[in-house]
Amino acid sequence: MAQHIGVLTSGGDCPGLNAAIRGLGKAAREHFGMRVVGFLNGFRGLALDQTVELDGQMLSGILTDGGTILGTSRDKPHRMNIGGKETDMTDAIVENYQKHHLDALVCIGGGGTQKNALKLVERGLNVVTLPKTIDNDISLTDRTFGFDTALQIATEAIDRLHSTATSHERVIVLEVMGHRAGWLALEAGIAGGADVVLLPEIPYDVSKIADAIRRRTQGGKRFSIVVVAEGAMSASDARVVDELVKERDLADSKKARSEAKEKLRKFHDEHVGHTIRLTKSLEALTGQESRLTILGHLQRGGTPSAADRVFATWLGTRCAEVLHERNYGVMLGLAGNALRLAPLHEVAGNTRLVPLDHPLIASARLVGTSFGD
Ligand code: F6P
Repeated sequence: MAQHIGVLTSGGDCPGLNAAIRGLGKAAREHFGMRVVGFLNGFRGLALDQTVELDGQMLSGILTDGGTILGTSRDKPHRMNIGGKETDMTDAIVENYQKHHLDALVCIGGGGTQKNALKLVERGLNVVTLPKTIDNDISLTDRTFGFDTALQIATEAIDRLHSTATSHERVIVLEVMGHRAGWLALEAGIAGGADVVLLPEIPYDVSKIADAIRRRTQGGKRFSIVVVAEGAMSASDARVVDELVKERDLADSKKARSEAKEKLRKFHDEHVGHTIRLTKSLEALTGQESRLTILGHLQRGGTPSAADRVFATWLGTRCAEVLHERNYGVMLGLAGNALRLAPLHEVAGNTRLVPLDHPLIASARLVGTSFGD
């Protein structure tokens, strides 16, 4: 009997989503004779039964397109805004899965999607996931698709900032995405030859950054490029976060836990914009004119790089094989040069941060990059 497969894309979009949908859809339909239905706007479409038939025409001509033909959202199955009210839509999702006689559901997404997908596995659905995000922070995979394209965009931005920083003899701070992980800042910083790279994993001291810039000036280099991950923090802010996390984890009641979680959320909300404060401090400490560029969603838009197209297509086609084998409850990840099947319960809830002993941190230090520590 031909299998019926559902597919959705969830969380922030990234380049390569359409390549993955195409790889999965073509292999599933044309090689294994499966029927493939797409759910629109992430888990919302599955909850509200908003679908599109992924036929040959829908899957054609999308390989190079950015974004996702299915649309996406950050909706969670168990906490969805329905008519202004937070609603648990898990039952509706299970009903729609059954209504469409699905044999399995493919969820393409980042860290949040892996957690949501696991919840559906626990409700008895057959789920396989693919790892996408420009943050590269999903555990049990060496790479996520979308990262390579974002890395190229961030690197090109650093290249372009170099010439204007040199002409004006300025310090230019570039904020890149990455959520709570520093992969994008680290690799773009190395590729673009940034002078200072600030990662969430290495809390910084602003006076050490200023020292590094002053040393460059004394050595005759009258400009500096500082690449900052959006989640990077000063050592004192990092201490506050550690305390709040401890408070949350040690909370002895549901109320105390949700209060501590709220404090943490507020702290992270207020942290947005920290690069504006950092740029002003650097100008004051170094006496050198300083400017800030926030790259933002440019990093997620547009056509995927060749490497992301290849990786996303490979994940999609391998996913069709895994579905054919009726292997469920797994995420496809990259391990060295091969694809692995990682148990979803081991992936969900575990963020892959840059290890402090990562060889690329050592390599950057060896070419004179400062991490502000
Ligand atoms: O997870 C991908 C990501 O682009 C992060 O790097 C960033 O913190 C976040 O999404 C931005 O989310 P939004 O698109 O909701 O502003």
